Amino acid sequence: MSYTPFKIPKNLLLGSATAATHIEGGEQEHNWYRWSELGNIKDGSHSKVACDHINRIESDVDLIKGINNETYRLGVEWSRIEPEEGKFSEEGIAIYRKEIKLLLANNIKPLVTLWHFSNPLWMEDDGAWVSPKSVQRFLSFSKYVVDQLGDLVEDWITLNEPNVYLTFGYFEGIWPPGNKGDLKGYFAAAKHFALAHLHAYEQIHEQLKSKGCKDPKVGVAHHLRIFDPANGSWLSKMAVNLISRLFQNIFLESMTKGKFLFPLRSGGFKATRAHYADFIGINYYSRDIIKGVLNPATLFGDRLLKENAPLNDLDWEIYPEGLYRICKQVYDKYQRPIFITENGTCDAADNFRTKFIYDHLKVLSKAINDGIDIQRYYHWTLLDNFEWAEGNSARFGLYHNNFETQERTLRKSGEFYANICEERLVSARMIEAFLK
Ligand code: GAL
Repeated sequence: MSYTPFKIPKNLLLGSATAATHIEGGEQEHNWYRWSELGNIKDGSHSKVACDHINRIESDVDLIKGINNETYRLGVEWSRIEPEEGKFSEEGIAIYRKEIKLLLANNIKPLVTLWHFSNPLWMEDDGAWVSPKSVQRFLSFSKYVVDQLGDLVEDWITLNEPNVYLTFGYFEGIWPPGNKGDLKGYFAAAKHFALAHLHAYEQIHEQLKSKGCKDPKVGVAHHLRIFDPANGSWLSKMAVNLISRLFQNIFLESMTKGKFLFPLRSGGFKATRAHYADFIGINYYSRDIIKGVLNPATLFGDRLLKENAPLNDLDWEIYPEGLYRICKQVYDKYQRPIFITENGTCDAADNFRTKFIYDHLKVLSKAINDGIDIQRYYHWTLLDNFEWAEGNSARFGLYHNNFETQERTLRKSGEFYANICEERLVSARMIEAFLK
């Protein structure tokens, strides 16, 4: 394989991403704390440990600065800010104010995610997102957070990957609340997520406008995959269409345009604007090859791996061209700016992350040069962290984390990314030093 130097396009901001539950730690009353207590994390790890970020904010901001990021995506923990319904914690929100001020003091532009898979137990135990109350609950939480932080933060992600949360929590049953095959729950909650975003979009804009913010940016981080049919049979093609629709298109279409595709219900919502997305957030990791089968339980498709494809530690295909294809599809359809809100790989030994970064940034640069309006790239993730049901052993970090000592060490691939962020190019020297 030959590597060639290339430049990072001028307007692409480079950064990294985390989310609250992945890194904070602490005895928080949320669904992941309970899921950990119940022994449901594969390697026995627990959300209360994570990266102990809550006690290491200053030094963790130094890590971000240490890799020359211009922007950083962080999340807030709902249960820390609203421990009881309607009761907001000044102490809880103060933590994020402090962190965001530190980021700004270091010239790092924050992008804040309001919800990233974690529900306070008071909400979890009252129907979570299946309950129609979830929409109002989210709006009230969002209102408080944006009131408190909106003088510092212009860019917001309302929701992260409702499709992944619902697939694992309500279809496969491996995430809280552990429901299997609960399609009724899946679609009811999908509708509430869409409504929560659509209303929050308007609400956040109004709030930020009244604070004098000139260029508010509000969007969703969508998990988008490539689904390719295993063969030319009508069954495989039909399965690809069905899976694409139920796993991604109903979310993209409702949250971008306010249009509810069957079988999603609109709950009476009528779109009054051309779009509800100042950017479309894309979290891109991998592709699935779909083979059509006569089995409704798998939506008529078995998910297979491409033969001889390179795989990461979790056996996900590494497929950089997919990033180009996804960006093109989304841009052709919606003509909205794109943020790559997550892209990264699980590689504990740091064997292939450097090449992963090279390949994905190269493809992204090509997409931008071809006219696709991609404005940001957030590498997932800053440091190894609590990776949901996989626990601490699934390592996606630019920094290695020792979970016993909480010592962070920059990986070689992290150094490569830090160089790219600093020089805004991949040079012949960097290829020599990192890729050969
Ligand atoms: C995404 C998710 C992140 C993290 C990442 C790596 O789907 O938003 O929270 O889990 O995958 O697996």
